[in-house]
Amino acid sequence: MTENSAVVTVDGKSVDLPVRSGSIGPDVVDIGSLYKQTGRFTYDPGFTSTASCESKITYIDGDEGVLLHRGYPIEQLAEHGDFLEVCYLLLYGELPTKAQKIDFDYRVTHHTMVHEQMSRFFTGFRRDAHPMAVMCGCVGALSAFYHDSTDITDPHQRMVASLRMIAKMPTLAAMAYKYHIGQPFVYPKNDLDYASNFLRMCFAVPCEDYVVNPVLARAMDRIFILHADHEQNASTSTVRLAGSSGANPFACIAAGIACLWGPAHGGANEAALNMLAEIGSVDRIPEYVAKAKDKNDPFRLMGFGHRVYKNYDPRAKIMQKTTHEVLAELGHKDDPLLEVAMELERIALTDSYFIEKKLYPNIDFYSGITLKALGFPTTMFTVLFALARTVGWIAQWNEMIEDPEQRIGRPRQLYIGEPSRDYVPVSKR
Ligand code: SDX
Repeated sequence: MTENSAVVTVDGKSVDLPVRSGSIGPDVVDIGSLYKQTGRFTYDPGFTSTASCESKITYIDGDEGVLLHRGYPIEQLAEHGDFLEVCYLLLYGELPTKAQKIDFDYRVTHHTMVHEQMSRFFTGFRRDAHPMAVMCGCVGALSAFYHDSTDITDPHQRMVASLRMIAKMPTLAAMAYKYHIGQPFVYPKNDLDYASNFLRMCFAVPCEDYVVNPVLARAMDRIFILHADHEQNASTSTVRLAGSSGANPFACIAAGIACLWGPAHGGANEAALNMLAEIGSVDRIPEYVAKAKDKNDPFRLMGFGHRVYKNYDPRAKIMQKTTHEVLAELGHKDDPLLEVAMELERIALTDSYFIEKKLYPNIDFYSGITLKALGFPTTMFTVLFALARTVGWIAQWNEMIEDPEQRIGRPRQLYIGEPSRDYVPVSKR
């Protein structure tokens, strides 16, 4: 074994596998030649010990509760930047100059309208369809409307598709909400910033003027920043795997939306709020904490735990601060759900089971309360997560395509089924 190699011994034969170092974080053992040299696969179904790619976009230190986007701590980006600045950073790798920011904002703003035919596309859905089902369908359908930005080998077309996705997700999300509640669609306005435009498209009605509350717009913008990207999580890995086959960007993002919908992932904010509502009052919390600890009970405390963060999710701390700002602004300081949430957090942070298993509140724990206070129904919570995460998916998708080592993703398996056997005629079964 050399300084930068790991030795694997199989059937008495030892092979050296190169160890590669990144700029920060754990080294990796490059197992690309393992099967060729040993006839063996590795086995890691949840990818808990497997790096799928090299990346320069986001870095998480789960033990220290650190989240960096292109090296910048999430706390500083959430405090000093806005969402489109973070989008620029994730896409291009550097914070924009003033001129670059003005140009980027202009380009995104002037892509916010969707093809007018999309309005008729919505009418195919039932009004009570879950907005995430509508988003899966509509985003996947974008490739049927924007053929001129689906050639993934053309960097210009990739960037046009990237801007279109970032720009049009708020419009589509607002349309999904309006369709869900039976109100008319509201077109974007180019004189509003990204978050304000989204709030107006969701909550304005033709009957009266709508004035955006700047405190709520800032909170919405910060929520988008907190959800923008998060390394190789399940939905981002889905987007990369879909993209590795050469699928167009709209189809890849639709795949990411579908994966994010799951309650173990982006669906947790909706599930966490539903859980708080089910608990209902502080005196019922011990009953649910006991259920969460019971190995025979599938119940989990939604909004707690994380595959990577074994310390507090840094986003949850900022989300908690935003929650209090929004509730104070809206006069909901005494929201009963927040009272249950705060007591549940206190118990979880002191209870030995949660401490031992390192189950801290994650970003979804507070985001649901905030989004409910902003006026969104729980069915829209994961849509907002998908809206914000689109820039992360798109940045990771572009990085994957530009990676010279990129190949179609095609995992192997440990087969535990029947060995080869002969067909049995039905008369003999
Ligand atoms: C997101 O990957 C990302 O980065 C995701 C995300 C992003 O920005 O993209 O951060 C967004 O998805 C946040 C996570 C949202 N999900 C939830 O809040 C759902 C509830 N949390 C869990 O389902 C769970 O914690 C996961 C899915 C988040 C993590 O699952 P792991 O890493 O596979 O951990 P595990 O299921 O193996 O659990 C380890 C132990 C188990 O006990 P043992 O079998 O070891 O005895 O902890 C227990 C679990 O039973 N456990 C919980 C729990 N989560 C884990 N017990 C009670 N309540 C919980 N929430």
